[in-house]
Amino acid sequence: MDLQLFQCWRVALLLLLMPCGHQCVSVHILNKEPLHVIPGSSLVLKARIEQGPLEKVSMVTWEREDETGIAPTRATLASCPGESSECSGTRPNVRVNVEQQETTLQINGYSRADGGVYAVTVTDHTGAKTTAHCIVREYEAVNHVSVSINMSHSSLVCGEAWGTDPHFSWLHERVAISRTVGKVSEDGSLLLVTMTPICGHFTCMVSNKLGYSSATYTAGPCETEGRGTTAAVVCFVLLLLFGGALAFLLWRRHRLNNRGDSLHERLEETI
Ligand SMILES: *[C@@H]1O[C@H](CO)[C@@H](O)[C@H](O)[C@H]1NC(C)=O
Repeated sequence: MDLQLFQCWRVALLLLLMPCGHQCVSVHILNKEPLHVIPGSSLVLKARIEQGPLEKVSMVTWEREDETGIAPTRATLASCPGESSECSGTRPNVRVNVEQQETTLQINGYSRADGGVYAVTVTDHTGAKTTAHCIVREYEAVNHVSVSINMSHSSLVCGEAWGTDPHFSWLHERVAISRTVGKVSEDGSLLLVTMTPICGHFTCMVSNKLGYSSATYTAGPCETEGRGTTAAVVCFVLLLLFGGALAFLLWRRHRLNNRGDSLHERLEETI
């Protein structure tokens, strides 16, 4: 009876130490998916390996396949034994690092052809495999920015084609949008215009890590401003004309006076 109890405890203890049998090793990639990489820079993927106390990692393999295509082929980038820390890949620009609980894949000089689905497979000492995936794409510049108006909703919509992680900002007559002009939506792509009537130049600027691009929507000229400017110009011209006329009159009078004086003098001389 005592022996049976002891055996039972032993089994329970073993089960506790080995709670998931062959499925104990797990792996997951820490990068946020999809990962966008700027061409020419380095792609770095990190994966966390979790294992039970009795498990041992015998092999870590990194692979890549195209994201689309009828029959995408898998290419092995590196296959590293579990104990090694540094391990070179099948290409000179590929490096893999394997540690107790982490593995890192680094590809220097990333190019468009390096995009695809990356897989890391961990094999344990019994030969059981577990795999994690991560989609990697090229980081693209901002493209084709446009602004269109939605008349029925008094809003301006800013569009951008396929740039990565676009950030939107708006300007009215080259200054930031104030409350009297409108309100920008949460994601920034929509401007709800509150000014009536809608007038002036609205510019949408879209930017990301590679630069920015902008587009402008031109509504009619703003009335008050237009009237003010016209009035100022008319005033200025009138002032100029009036000043000119006055100057001319003064000059003429001065000349006539002078001539009168000299005539007088000449007359006196002849007499
Ligand atoms: C204008 O905006 C509303 C609300 O966002 C939308 O339902 C409607 O389809 C838009 N109209 C046009 C012409 O884009």
